[in-house]
Amino acid sequence: MNNKNNRIINRLEWIREGFILTPEIYKSMIKGFKQECEHGLNTPSASGLATMIPSYVTRLPTGHETGTYLALDIGGSTLRVCAVELLGQGQVNVTEVKHLITDTLRSSTTIVFFDWIADTIAELYALLPEETRDETSPPLAMGVSWSFPLDQTGISKGTILRMGKGFTLAGIDGQDLATLFLEAFKRKNIRVIVTAIINDTIGAMVAHAYSNPQTRVGFIYGTGVNAAYAEKVSRIIKLNIAEWQEDSGTEMLLNTEIDIFGNESYLPITRFDRALDANHAQPGFQPYEKMMSGAYLGELTRLVAMDLIHEKELFEGHIPLLLNTPWSFLTAHMSEIEKFPKNNFQYIISHITKLLQFMDGYQPNENDIHIFLDICCMVSTRAAGLAAAAMIAIIEQQTFEPNDAIVIGVNGTTFEMYPRMPERIHKALEQWYGEEKAKRIQLEVARDGGSIGAALVAMLYQEVPSSIQS
Ligand code: GLC
Repeated sequence: MNNKNNRIINRLEWIREGFILTPEIYKSMIKGFKQECEHGLNTPSASGLATMIPSYVTRLPTGHETGTYLALDIGGSTLRVCAVELLGQGQVNVTEVKHLITDTLRSSTTIVFFDWIADTIAELYALLPEETRDETSPPLAMGVSWSFPLDQTGISKGTILRMGKGFTLAGIDGQDLATLFLEAFKRKNIRVIVTAIINDTIGAMVAHAYSNPQTRVGFIYGTGVNAAYAEKVSRIIKLNIAEWQEDSGTEMLLNTEIDIFGNESYLPITRFDRALDANHAQPGFQPYEKMMSGAYLGELTRLVAMDLIHEKELFEGHIPLLLNTPWSFLTAHMSEIEKFPKNNFQYIISHITKLLQFMDGYQPNENDIHIFLDICCMVSTRAAGLAAAAMIAIIEQQTFEPNDAIVIGVNGTTFEMYPRMPERIHKALEQWYGEEKAKRIQLEVARDGGSIGAALVAMLYQEVPSSIQS
C-alpha cells in the first residue's frame, strides 16, 4: 500500500479510536447512567431539565381488556389521532387520521398548533360510527402520548418542559398541557375529554405489555431516544411519599428522559459530537440523544466525512453537494447506503455517487466508497452500543429472578428501519452480559406504542382513584 493510503487508513483509524466502545467505556457509561437515575429519583421534576419523571401509571394491562378508546400521539414529525378498539388477547383494531407536522406549524403559536390538533380530531370523529358522535352520548375519553419532556403531576396533568425536536412554539414552556387541549376543544366545539397523558416511552411499555406481559422496559429509538420502566414507589423519593404511603409496595412507570442524560465525564464524546452540538439550536441539551438518535446520525457521518475530505483523504478533496450543507445528509441516507448488497460493488459506487452529487463531475473510486461505507458503519455501530448501554442501565435498576425473560419493547424508525440495528444492539448486550445471559434479553418491536399505549392508559384510568388525581 502506498504512503497516501497508509495515511488515510491511519487518519480513519485515529478517528475510529474515538468511536469504539471498549469494555471500560461501557462500564463508565452504565455507572454514569445509573448515577443519573439515582439523582433523578431524588430531584424534583420541575427543575428545568427533568429526568425520571413519574407517570402516575401504576397498573399494566393484562391483554384481556376490551372497548374503544381515543388516542392522540404527537411526535417530532407526525400527529396521529386514533380510535383504538381493544379486542382482548393482546389484539387491537385502529382507525386513524395522520398528518405530518410542517416546519411552519412547529414554529407557529401555541393556539394555532392546538387548533390544528383539534381539527385533526374532528376529522377522526367524522369517521366514527354515528352513535359515538351523538350529542347526547357522553364525551369520548382520550389518552395523549406526548413525545416531549413533561413535568407530570397527575395521570392527566403535566407542565410542558422544553420541547426539542425543532419545536419553537412561542410561549409554550411552562403551560399546562391538559388546559391547552381543553381550551382548543372548547374553541372547536369538540366533545372529547383527556383522561390520561403519557410520554411515548410509557406508551411503548404499556402497549407492549398488552401483547407481552413480560415487558420490563419500554424503549423509543427513532428521531429521539428514551426509556421507561417500572420503579418501586418507595424509591421515587421526589414523589410526595405521604400521599403514596399506602402504595409504597407498588411500582410506577417512570419516564427516564434518558435522552437528556450524559456528560463528558462518562460518555465517549468526540470532537465530532462537540461540533454537532455547537451547531445545534439547543446546544448542551440532550447530549446522549445527540450521539445516537435518528435526528443526528446523518449529521455525525457528514462531519466525519468532511474532516477526511478537507484533508484530501476522501474523494480527493472534492466536496459533494449532499455533504456540503449541515444537516442535509440524513440518517435515512445512511440507512439506504448500509442496505446495499455488499456483493455488487459497482452498484454501490454508482448509487452513492448519484446520491452524494459531485457537481464538478468527480467520480469516486473504490477506495473512496470503502471509506465512506466504513464511516457510516462506524457511526451507526457506536449508536447501537450507546442504545445497549442505556438498556443495560435500565435493566440494572430493576431486580429479576435468575431465569426471568427480560422483554424490551422498542418503538421507533431507527430501530425498525436501520439495517441490522436490532442485531447490533443485541451483540453489544452480549458483549456486556455474555452470550448465555444475553439470551434472556428479548428486543421486540413495540409498534404504534404511542397511540395504543395512550388508549390503554385512558382505559386503565377511566375511573382514576382519588388518591392519584391531582
Ligand atoms: C425526546 C423527548 C422524549 C421522547 C423521546 C422519544 O428525547 O425528549 O420525551 O420520549 O424523544 O420520542
